[in-house]
Amino acid sequence: MTNFDYQTPTRLIFGKGVVREKLASVMAQYGDRVLLTYGGGSVKRIGLYDEVRDILKDKQLFELADIQPNPKFNPSVLEGVRLCQENNIDVILSIGGGSVLDCTKAIAGVAGTLKGNPYDNVEEAWDIVCRRKPTTAAIPIVDVITMAATGSEYDSGGVISRTETNDKLAYFSPLVFPAVSFIDPVYTFSVPTKHTLAGIADCINHIMEQYFCAEHTDLNDAFMEGAVKSLAKNAKKVLQNPEDYEARAEIFYACTMGCNGIYALGNTYSGWPMHAMEHALSAYYDITHGEGLAILTPRWVERIEKFGKNVFGVQGTDASIQAIHDFYKGIGIPMTLPEVGIDESRLAEMAKHVADNEGLDKAWAPLLEKDILEIYQACMK
Ligand code: NZQ
Ligand code: ZN
Repeated sequence: MTNFDYQTPTRLIFGKGVVREKLASVMAQYGDRVLLTYGGGSVKRIGLYDEVRDILKDKQLFELADIQPNPKFNPSVLEGVRLCQENNIDVILSIGGGSVLDCTKAIAGVAGTLKGNPYDNVEEAWDIVCRRKPTTAAIPIVDVITMAATGSEYDSGGVISRTETNDKLAYFSPLVFPAVSFIDPVYTFSVPTKHTLAGIADCINHIMEQYFCAEHTDLNDAFMEGAVKSLAKNAKKVLQNPEDYEARAEIFYACTMGCNGIYALGNTYSGWPMHAMEHALSAYYDITHGEGLAILTPRWVERIEKFGKNVFGVQGTDASIQAIHDFYKGIGIPMTLPEVGIDESRLAEMAKHVADNEGLDKAWAPLLEKDILEIYQACMK
C-alpha cells in the first residue's frame, strides 16, 4: 500500500428536505453578499431557485445564470469573476449540476487570486484555470447539487472548456473544495433519463479509473466493486421509477464519493486515461461527458477479469468487456461515436491533442498517440 495524506474539508448535508432545514443557518456563517450561480433553467422548473431565494430573502443576492453543460471559460467564468469583483461578493452559492459547480469553483479561485477586471486580464485568468499560475485565495463556495454524476460536490476540481482552443482542462486547488454541499436526492427525480444514465456512467468510470492501477488493496477493490454493483442495480430501478428515493439516494451517495480519491487511498495513480480522451471528445464536439466515457470504457479496459467476475459474474477478459458494453447498451446509453454526432474527420487531430496535453505515455497502461487514435476508431462502430 502506498503512503497517503488525505483531507476533505467539505461538510456534506445529505437527505430529504435538508435545504429547507439547514441552508439559512449555513449561509449565516458567511457574509451578506451572495452570488447565486445556476444553469439553463432546470432549477427554476424544479422550484429550487424560488425556494433558495425565499430562504435567503434577507441577503443581497447577485446572479450568474445560463452556465452551460461543459462550462465555458468565456463568457461564464469571466462574467462570474467580474460580478464577484464589482460586487465584493462574500460567498458563492451554486445551485445545479456539476457544470454549474465546476464553473463556480473556477470563478471562486480566479476572483480570489486575480486582482482587477478579468476582461483586462483574460490570459492571466486562463493561466490560473489551467494552473500555470497558482490559486492563492478563493471565495467560499456553498452548493446545492442537483445531478448525481461528477462528485464535484466533494472534490477540489472542476473542468472548464475554452472553445477557441478546443481545450477542456481540469482546474483544481485545495482552496476550492466546497465549504458545504447540500445533497437532496429528491432534486434528481426530474433529471432526464439521458443525464441520469450519463451521470451513472460518469461515476462508474471514475471508479474504474481508480480500480485499474498498478498497486491496489483488497479493501479498495471491495469498496469500488460494491459501489459499481449498487450503481448497476439502482440504475435499473430508476429507469423503472424515476422517483424511487432509495435508488436515487444510493446513486447519489456513490457519485459523491466517486471522484474525491477516497476509494483509492493507498493505490497508485492510474493516469485517468479514459477521462483524458473523453475531455477531447466533449471539448471538440460538446457532447455529454458520461456518454463519451461509456463509449470509450469497454474499448480501453485492461485489468478486467476480476472486475467482470466480481461485478457482473462473468469469466474472462472478453466476457467482462462485453458485459460492461451490454450493461450500458441495455440501459439505453448510445454506444458509438456516430450516435452522439461524431464522425471520423477529427479523430486524428483529437488523438494528437490528447497525446500532446495529457501525459498518457506515463500512465500505468501507457497510451501513445496511435493507441488513442485506435481507441477512438474502435468507437466508430
Ligand atoms: O443547465 P440546466 O438547466 O441546469 O440543466 C442541466 C443540464 O442540461 C440538467 N440538470 C441538472 N440537474 C437537473 C437537471 N435537469 C433536471 N433536473 C435536475 N435536477 O442536466 C444537464 C447536465 O448538467 P451538467 O451539470 O452538465 O451535468 P454533470 O453534473 O454531469 O456535469 C458535467 C460536467 O462535469 C465535468 C464534465 O466534464 C462536464 O463538464 N466533470 C467534473 C468533474 C469534477 N468536478 O470533479 C469530474 C468529472 O469527471 C467530469 O469531468
Ligand atoms: Zn467524469
